[in-house]
Amino acid sequence: MPTVNFVNEKKQIEVPAGANLRVEAMKAGIKLYGGLNGVGAGLNEVFNCHGLGHCGTCRVKITKGMENASPMSMMEKVTFKFNPLGPAMFAYIGNEDTMRLACCTRVEGDMTVETKPPMNLTGENFFS
Ligand code: FES
Repeated sequence: MPTVNFVNEKKQIEVPAGANLRVEAMKAGIKLYGGLNGVGAGLNEVFNCHGLGHCGTCRVKITKGMENASPMSMMEKVTFKFNPLGPAMFAYIGNEDTMRLACCTRVEGDMTVETKPPMNLTGENFFS
């Protein structure tokens, strides 16, 4: 069984191969919804797309083991690359190698996950 290491929460969970990252995180009591750098996190807990891949609020960084994540789905690509109204597109800039939507990610092997990655609105990655 793959192990998912949630670094911010200092929690490791074992999940069945092919499990959905969002579902397994929620089962383990991991809060995925961070709002906009913490602002609106509580609202995101309620107002999200509940795993449909539209809202982008369940974004995480997979800092190790990205090769063990399922390929990016079409909906995930659209949310990250073509939705200028959603914050996910801006958060994705500069984090293309590590950022995924938890609801669209199947866990096929061990990985290390950073939940609620902060959005760098003024730093070097934003406009690069
Ligand atoms: S819950 Fe909305 S994109 Fe994942």
